Amino acid sequence: QQQTSESLYVINNFAQKFFTTALFETDEGTDIALSYLKERGFREDIIKKFQLGYNPEAGDAFAKAATSAQYNQELLQKSGLVVLREERLRDNYRGRIIFPIHNQSGKVLGFGARLIKKNDKAPKYINTPENEIYVKSKLLYGSYFARMAIDKADECLLVEGYTDVVSLHQAGIENVVASGGTSLTPDQLRLIKKYTNNLTIIYDGDGAGVKAAMRGLDLALEEGLNVRLVLIPDNEDPDSYVNKIGAAAFNEFIANNKKDFVIFQLGQSLVEAGNDSVKKAAIVNRMAETISKITKTEHFTKRQDYVKQVAALLKIEEAGLNDLVNKFIR
Ligand code: GTP
Ligand code: MN
Ligand code: MN
Ligand code: MN
Ligand code: MN
Repeated sequence: QQQTSESLYVINNFAQKFFTTALFETDEGTDIALSYLKERGFREDIIKKFQLGYNPEAGDAFAKAATSAQYNQELLQKSGLVVLREERLRDNYRGRIIFPIHNQSGKVLGFGARLIKKNDKAPKYINTPENEIYVKSKLLYGSYFARMAIDKADECLLVEGYTDVVSLHQAGIENVVASGGTSLTPDQLRLIKKYTNNLTIIYDGDGAGVKAAMRGLDLALEEGLNVRLVLIPDNEDPDSYVNKIGAAAFNEFIANNKKDFVIFQLGQSLVEAGNDSVKKAAIVNRMAETISKITKTEHFTKRQDYVKQVAALLKIEEAGLNDLVNKFIR
């Protein structure tokens, strides 16, 4: 187990260097991949900082290099970098931009690989399969580069995608990590909590991502996090939007559009419920349960504050809501 983990780190380190060299020092890399990244607005210093790379299109460029460097074939398959096809090792990330995913100390746990030319046959992104060191539910992309800034700002920004993290760094916003668009897990929330109690989710407004994030709300409250939400305008994501309006305007947009996530969730539910009184009763119950997750004694005033706000928005008695909340706590 320990030995396997160590070997996987070594293979990933070798791969990261191979992909970076392929990006910067081969004609194919510069013509196809580096030019693509630059067209998207990524600067060379940022590309280097995040150790982005490129896996050439030829079926086995990396597999060949790794095999001649004597890496164990089973471990290579376990790393997800290669796959066995017709008894030969082939590159799994052919023709893709490579985003190394680092742990807290900067070691490469695995990779996200984006197809340069999107098509209908292959997924846009492929990620490292779960193995001894790549455990999706425990990592956040960008945490290695963000941790100092998160501590300093006492706030962690959460976005959906790899490119969002890289673009925001380029814009000078460094306290940012990405979830990969899935709902947050307890381990990821604990990772954030090591640095700050303030989580700001920055998602696109299309709803899918926000719904996924909401599933983590109760957990986040249980962990004692203050959760805020910023919705990026339609058909944009943080990467495209910061490129469109510039760093200063983006910063201002974030600062002016933070909504409390609990109150936001209530608003969403009320819109969905319309005039249905059964649905409304269910909302009262659900909101009471959500608020009841704030159990830590030091957050008592925060809980009372929510009771007040939610009761007002639901047009119900504060005392009644408080009783209901207390029932969930007991
Ligand atoms: P660009 O299109 O390059 O700007 O990337 P993006 O990050 O904006 O992609 P998108 O908003 O579609 O997805 C957000 C995140 O979800 C990505 O960064 C990936 O982590 C993940 N994701 C998106 N598409 C796929 C996919 O096809 N497979 C997997 N496994 N993950 C995906
Ligand atoms: Mn701190
Ligand atoms: Mn989306
Ligand atoms: Mn994008
Ligand atoms: Mn996106």
